[in-house]
Amino acid sequence: MNLESIQRRDLPAILSRMPKAELHIHIEGSLEPELIFEMAGRNGIRLDYASIEDLRAAYAFTDLQSFLDIYYAGAGVLQTEQDFFDMAWSYLNRAKADNVLHAEIFFDPQTHTARGIPFATVIAGLDRAVRRAGEELGVSASLILCFLRHLSEEDAFATLEEALPYRDLFIGVGLDSGERGNPPEKFARVFARCRELGLHIVAHAGEEGPADYIRDALDILKAERIDHGVRCLEDADLVARLARERVPLTVCPLSNVKLAVFREMHDHNLGRLLQAGLAATVNSDDPAYFGGYLNDNYAATFAALPELGAREAYQLARNSFEASFVAEEVKKGWVTALDEYFAGACGGKG
Ligand code: HPA
Ligand code: ZN
Repeated sequence: MNLESIQRRDLPAILSRMPKAELHIHIEGSLEPELIFEMAGRNGIRLDYASIEDLRAAYAFTDLQSFLDIYYAGAGVLQTEQDFFDMAWSYLNRAKADNVLHAEIFFDPQTHTARGIPFATVIAGLDRAVRRAGEELGVSASLILCFLRHLSEEDAFATLEEALPYRDLFIGVGLDSGERGNPPEKFARVFARCRELGLHIVAHAGEEGPADYIRDALDILKAERIDHGVRCLEDADLVARLARERVPLTVCPLSNVKLAVFREMHDHNLGRLLQAGLAATVNSDDPAYFGGYLNDNYAATFAALPELGAREAYQLARNSFEASFVAEEVKKGWVTALDEYFAGACGGKG
């Protein structure tokens, strides 16, 4: 496969058509303003915004917290099992259009149980969409339960208790919400319990928080993947370790620019992460809020960063499959499909 034979002008089409996985998507962050208004209407909820355009205009963020305030408010329209299904079904159809073969989807149960919505309602709607996507769209998907790190560890333990009757419907746990001042060690005991239960472990770290939080997520929580992790480049020893151990980073470029982690896409360090030998992947985080779905993230980064070419496109897609929590044979099948896709794109010169 001669990836160098691929012309730069052909990259946008290749990026959008290549098979890929998405490993960092908060399902509540896929709730589009249109759906927020529709659900508010059918559930009799009054919104603070007069129109869809008004709401969209409020999506001007200065940092992570300014986003989280609007994101948690938007999720307030979700009331019924059908609402959770509709949200996830809409995302999965969108993922299919971006040639996503597999998605590992975060959900934030505490955002809903704190409003009196039963955990069972949340997971039943999401699970129904995941199953239907497998059957009707040919998109494989699984769920990862995220604990909100601005809440207490006790609250996380209570959420885990509520989730245990549905243990078979999610594959792992993560840690999200406001990072600064909420270090990994705050959740050491609940993650230890999750590991005993055989759950996969991921954690947001090094988005706004320091590189030390990435190290602590690995050492204390035993995270298998780091969500974001872009601030690792501030610590050379940590970078060497992440490369040696092939710890995947689920990078979200449009999110990083919208939340001012980088000033503009041109400043993003995705190319440098790959050059350092890190298992970086591209993801959308909260696509309804950050200006685009998975293919939009690929398109924006490759347009802004000249160091990204066909080799990096292949590597990022390959990393996304290899970093997923599926059986090795399944990963191999997807990587073979990716190899065949790129062999075709190289004009069979491979
Ligand atoms: N960081 C932390 N918490 C989140 C995010 C994020 O990017 N998106 C949704 N919850
Ligand atoms: Zn995230």
